[in-house]
Amino acid sequence: QSSRSTIQIGNIEDAPTISKHIYGHFAEHLGRCIYEGFYVGDNSMIPNTEGVRNDIIDALKELQIPNLRWPGGCFADTYHWKDGIGPQENRPTIVNTWWGGVTEDNSFGTHNFLNLCEVLETEPYLSGNVGSGTVQELADWVQYTNFKGKSPMSDLRRENGRDEPWTVKYWGIGNEAWGCGGNMRPEYYADIYKKYVTFMSDADVEGGLYKIASGASNDDYNWTEVLMKNIPKNMLQGVALHHYSVIDWSAKGSDVDFTEDLYFKTMKESWLMEELIVKHTAIMDKYDKEKKVDLIVDEWGGWYEVAEGTNPGFLYQQNTMRDAMIAGMNLNIFNNHADRVKMANLAQTVNVLQAVILTDKEKMILTPTYHVMNMFKVHQDAKLIPLSFESPEYTFNGESLPAVNASASMDDAGRMHLSIVNIDAHKENIVTIDLNTLGIKKITGRILMSDKLQDHNTFDNPNKIEPKEYKDFTFKKGVLEIELPAFSVIVLEGSK
Ligand code: AHR
Repeated sequence: QSSRSTIQIGNIEDAPTISKHIYGHFAEHLGRCIYEGFYVGDNSMIPNTEGVRNDIIDALKELQIPNLRWPGGCFADTYHWKDGIGPQENRPTIVNTWWGGVTEDNSFGTHNFLNLCEVLETEPYLSGNVGSGTVQELADWVQYTNFKGKSPMSDLRRENGRDEPWTVKYWGIGNEAWGCGGNMRPEYYADIYKKYVTFMSDADVEGGLYKIASGASNDDYNWTEVLMKNIPKNMLQGVALHHYSVIDWSAKGSDVDFTEDLYFKTMKESWLMEELIVKHTAIMDKYDKEKKVDLIVDEWGGWYEVAEGTNPGFLYQQNTMRDAMIAGMNLNIFNNHADRVKMANLAQTVNVLQAVILTDKEKMILTPTYHVMNMFKVHQDAKLIPLSFESPEYTFNGESLPAVNASASMDDAGRMHLSIVNIDAHKENIVTIDLNTLGIKKITGRILMSDKLQDHNTFDNPNKIEPKEYKDFTFKKGVLEIELPAFSVIVLEGSK
């Protein structure tokens, strides 16, 4: 028994543009994300460009990733960037105290990362070390990456083989300052933030650096309030927010072997993103009516117990249709809040948490989350089409959640894109939308679905889940009726 609902199109005139940076990614020195993930070294048998796997480069180029955050996460506040430059043999080893206590040789450093961003045609987003670093160290990193003329740091860069600066715009001032970044109070962090940014030179980047304050965890609204109150707007371009879809930090549940109970709880945590954005935004609105400061969700995604038999400190997990639901739902939420949410970074790109890519030696697979990101990329930098509708409910054990979430946009070429997710584990849902005001004449679509919520791609069966052409809709007299199978993600394109 499927439910029916009608989506209404709102006023498109004043609608914001969906920043492409909502489709950003995050790569930390954690487990097998960088080492054995992106980076195999230039002596590897696996085809690579300056040590980075070509298959990963190709997959990320296809996704058109707009930005990549690095080197952490918690790792960022332990990272001393000067350890990762210069001749390989002179680089010191360090112990990755947050993630598995492994020793790393710093073979992947600033040049490797920024050159990779150039290859990917993506904006680097560097997280500076505030927790265990110094003001001078971060100021030096800015000069090293951005200064064109002659200076101690730009000379050092040249000595290390790079003449032109990379011109890095996006900078995080520490990470999770309330926790692994230094266990600070927001008042103390706000002061520290001002001190750090005072010495970061804006001069070499058009429009200045884009500085992002380490933001709240989940519903810590006081954190956002204090930062917005205590930091002058001209020193602050973005305030971060971290929210993972985790059901219980002490019992996170299996990545693939989960019940509907756990699925429902994960969906509930994922849907919480909507409320968090509304409430953090309301606080920001109080101090910044003109919306000069952006909300940056620079860590989000599903988090489960690590895959069986893997290192607990490496956060490696499989990626199922449940993750496809998290991805579609969160991207729809971000799109719909495009007036304030200007960047988001899925945690993390390769082999860690809700990864878009998994590797096993020379093999590589694309996860259901990758496919959702790929289907949704059509929204990047397109104009939001505001939608309103009453979703049917997905009910489990007496509790309910909106079963359907959606967002829509119009791109520069006049194409409309509508992304719809039905999270209901059993029920198909039917939605209707009148597209006459948009002048749409033709519809095509793609769908991501599978038989079971636990289904996933494996190294032996890498294409079990991939988008297929979708035709289960009718389009008559400008009215579109769409049949959404249980736990499916659909993206439709309408042309004039
Ligand atoms: O993404 C994994 C970790 O989660 C990050 O290092 C940290 O910022 C967060 O707690």
